[in-house]
Amino acid sequence: MQSKSSLSDSPTIKERWPEGAIVYHIYPRSLQDSNGDGIGDLQGIISRLDYIKSLGVNAVWLSPFYPSPMADFGYDVAEFCDVDPIFGTLDDFKQLLQEAGKRDIKVMIDLVPNHTSDEHPWFIESAKSRDNKYADWYIWQDPKFEEGSSVPQPPNNWIDMFGGESAWQWVPARQQYYLHTFDVRQPDLNWTNPEVREAIKDVMRFWLDLGVDGFRVDAVYFMGKDPMFDDDLDNPYYEEGRDDRSNALRRENSQGWPMVYGYVREMSEVFKEDKYKDKELFMVVETYPDRHNSVASYMAFYVSMDPKLVAPFNFGGITVPWEAHEWRKFLKTFHTATDHYSPHCVASYAFGNHDLPRLIDRIGHEAAARSAAVLLLTLPGMAFIYYGEEIGMHNVDIPPEFVHDPQAKRNPHQPAGRDPVRTPMQWSTEKYGGFTTGDTTWLPMAADFRDNNVAVQEKD
Ligand code: GLC
Ligand code: CA
Repeated sequence: MQSKSSLSDSPTIKERWPEGAIVYHIYPRSLQDSNGDGIGDLQGIISRLDYIKSLGVNAVWLSPFYPSPMADFGYDVAEFCDVDPIFGTLDDFKQLLQEAGKRDIKVMIDLVPNHTSDEHPWFIESAKSRDNKYADWYIWQDPKFEEGSSVPQPPNNWIDMFGGESAWQWVPARQQYYLHTFDVRQPDLNWTNPEVREAIKDVMRFWLDLGVDGFRVDAVYFMGKDPMFDDDLDNPYYEEGRDDRSNALRRENSQGWPMVYGYVREMSEVFKEDKYKDKELFMVVETYPDRHNSVASYMAFYVSMDPKLVAPFNFGGITVPWEAHEWRKFLKTFHTATDHYSPHCVASYAFGNHDLPRLIDRIGHEAAARSAAVLLLTLPGMAFIYYGEEIGMHNVDIPPEFVHDPQAKRNPHQPAGRDPVRTPMQWSTEKYGGFTTGDTTWLPMAADFRDNNVAVQEKD
């Protein structure tokens, strides 16, 4: 496979790599283990780069590999500029960059700006008192008190994304609550604080100086919150007992306030700094479109920042029903809007990732998954392929005693959460599918790995 060329190419536009790249999304815990502990790592990834190259891939995106207590498997970052020992060392990462470079594979890494781990030194300091250097780096609010009571209550009704319980956690030392949009161990950073914004830009500079080509930016929509902290309204479609509790409210105040666009733009402007301006750096931001007007919610990103530097993920692949006429309508509206706005807009399609059911189980039978792959690889722009999609990996049943995902542990409506899509890559018919030489894997292997693996498919 060659780089796909963009429909919006014109002789005056230099072809930039993001405009036609196929990006292979690696969940580092699950691609390849190199040291027998049953958890994938950076050396494992390096050892599979030839395979990745053989797919015709132009870039990889790595989910987080930073030091982390793993409350959310790395999306709770305790140190932004290092590598967790589970995955290796910073030298391993440098080697990965070199080896990828030799194969002409760009490297994008995950940037998690909305929150940190509660074990990040910034948070540890911030939680100590109301007057220290980091006191205002997180979102702290005073409690409310019911009349006649001295029992502190959360400042508003916001709920978290994982359990649908209060998104506020009380800290006695400050006599205040902090906000956590996700797990209680993932406190939200205060993006209204310019020091926080600069600190995250320094994180970007650190990795850019090492040579990464761009970022996938996590959960950006949550960075803009109502500065008055008004309550969210009830979601009229929510049915208790049937729906995920985290959907009980409409979240019009706890996310998506327009400052999101300014924050993302500010991050992307790092790419224009002297040191970087001649490189082709790019970032793709995670945001799920508004169901009622998805094209408008994508366009809000393109028009608010330089489309040569940033694109929102286009998650049409997961929200648009798998019907030709629905897709035609969606694609036509989307591309008419982006082309009309600027020939530099890069569409960034993903049909699956580490949070969503496997493509093949979502669309149904395998023929449909094949045509989805053809569609993904022929649409203009970037195509993100989640590891294992290329061999049609299925959701894997996870017995209750193996459940790891915090979303699953706290949510009765998601008994296995996202673990079923994070199982070890199926390489061969060997023990543990060639994923590890050890005696265990962090999540169980798919039962069908002997029939469905890379070695078998390469001979087909
Ligand atoms: C994003 C990630 C998801 C993570 C969450 C919190 O949605 O894709 O895996 O749990 O953000 O960082
Ligand atoms: Ca390992």
